[in-house]
Amino acid sequence: MKVLYVASECAPFVKTGGLADVIGAVPKNLAQFGIDTRVIMPAYPALASLLARGKIVWQQDDLFGGPANLVAVKSKGITLLLLNAPHLYDRPGNIYLNEQGKDWPDNHLRFGALCQVAAYVASYGLPRELKNPLNDWQPDLVHCHDWQSGLVPAYLKMVDTKTPPCILTIHNIAFQGLFDAKVIETLGLSRSMFVPDGFEYWGKVSFLKAAIAYCDKITTVSPTYARELMQPEFGMGLEGMMQSRASDLSGILNGIDTDVWDPIHDRALNTSYYPRTLKRKAKNRAQVEARFNLDSIKNPDAPLFCVISRLTTQKGLDLLVETLPNLVARGARLALLGSGDKDIEAAFIAAARQFKGKVGTIIGYDEELSHILQGGADAILVPSRFEPCGLTQLYGLRYGTIPVVARTGGLADTIIDANQAALADNCATGFQFAPITAISLDHAIDRACQTFKQPDVWEAMMRRAMNHDVSWDKSAKAYHDLYASLLT
Ligand code: ADP
Ligand code: GLC
Repeated sequence: MKVLYVASECAPFVKTGGLADVIGAVPKNLAQFGIDTRVIMPAYPALASLLARGKIVWQQDDLFGGPANLVAVKSKGITLLLLNAPHLYDRPGNIYLNEQGKDWPDNHLRFGALCQVAAYVASYGLPRELKNPLNDWQPDLVHCHDWQSGLVPAYLKMVDTKTPPCILTIHNIAFQGLFDAKVIETLGLSRSMFVPDGFEYWGKVSFLKAAIAYCDKITTVSPTYARELMQPEFGMGLEGMMQSRASDLSGILNGIDTDVWDPIHDRALNTSYYPRTLKRKAKNRAQVEARFNLDSIKNPDAPLFCVISRLTTQKGLDLLVETLPNLVARGARLALLGSGDKDIEAAFIAAARQFKGKVGTIIGYDEELSHILQGGADAILVPSRFEPCGLTQLYGLRYGTIPVVARTGGLADTIIDANQAALADNCATGFQFAPITAISLDHAIDRACQTFKQPDVWEAMMRRAMNHDVSWDKSAKAYHDLYASLLT
């Protein structure tokens, strides 16, 4: 079976969040079912060396204002189809935002182009005349991810010949790709689809709604988020649309790349460890303390918490700011790595000043440091207001870094709360809290601190967390089964 993934990021090549981790991991795990996956994505500047190494498999003189070609290249177990269109992608800054932190004004063209070329490859395949081993390939099925790929099902509907079935995975419904209606003609879309059952959304064009309307099946990244998406509180205005597609919607939980996230082989860590040697994990704490200017405490009687996150309203870290005085008063410490909204960044910078040695803040994006934190902290805080799946709590499980999470979306599905029953049955792997308020987060932090004082209970929880299956095995099988159901 041949499957085309359409996405805007893919780890380890380009990453701004969990979407990249998923796109970088699933194709490798689908290979065990004989699925040949290719990932089509823009050739951003960070991919220049891959681009130079690849082979051109398709080209066009004018793709929305400039020449474009598609370059096939294999790297790290993934076959990429890089859409090389310098007028759209060769620029500094973030892949979505300019240097002022604003959306690139031509994002409709940048991701519309990705969708158009993906739909072309899906409909007609890569041409034979430019022969090379990666040419002459046509997918049996297309798998779109998030709004950046949203127009693919719409473009496929406009093709006269039979086209492959198309699946949409919603990683985050908060991002919908909304643009002025005048882009309809620019993007060569059909006006007949600019209707409430199509891609029209309050007079605008919604890329995500296009995919919801025209794809064959919809998945999202956890069963709880699949239910939440149909509720006004989480559906972000698309809940009605999601309800109308309820029978085609399912939740398939994310896994993690256990080759990349593995405390036994992680090169970022001073000391490797596994469940039987988990006491060695404490040695990595010094690495975190040094990087975050935290007081070094030999025998802590309260945990070192960490946060690795985008700093946005979604992630609920403003609630953590409110609870910090209590966290510090309990003798606990916090190391935070993140970037995003300037006011949240400023609040944590101020907290590090106020609670010197107890709270450490590093603003920025640092992949290696995120491994060091997972390897050295005792617990990880994820107080999200909503969380489709969340990956940092899964990395936490794998590293025995006990997750303290809001009871929502994938966080609710992946962490077993250490309530009395779960402790009695020896199945707790972390702490959940609800409602998602500062007071409730504070209670969860307190429970974690109390439990930390009982090393036997805490270590048993660490061991269970580390042994919990967070691999892609089950979910890759679920994707395979879904694909197979559409192809029979
Ligand atoms: P989201 O995709 O909503 O940001 P996830 O938990 O699914 O949330 O994925 C976030 C990914 O980005 C994880 O791999 C996490 O380790 C990583 N990450 C987030 N912020 C940072 C940061 N500042 N530095 C390094 N990695 C980060
Ligand atoms: C999104 C979600 C996050 C999820 C990730 C990967 O960014 O916010 O919860 O884990 O996608 O699916």
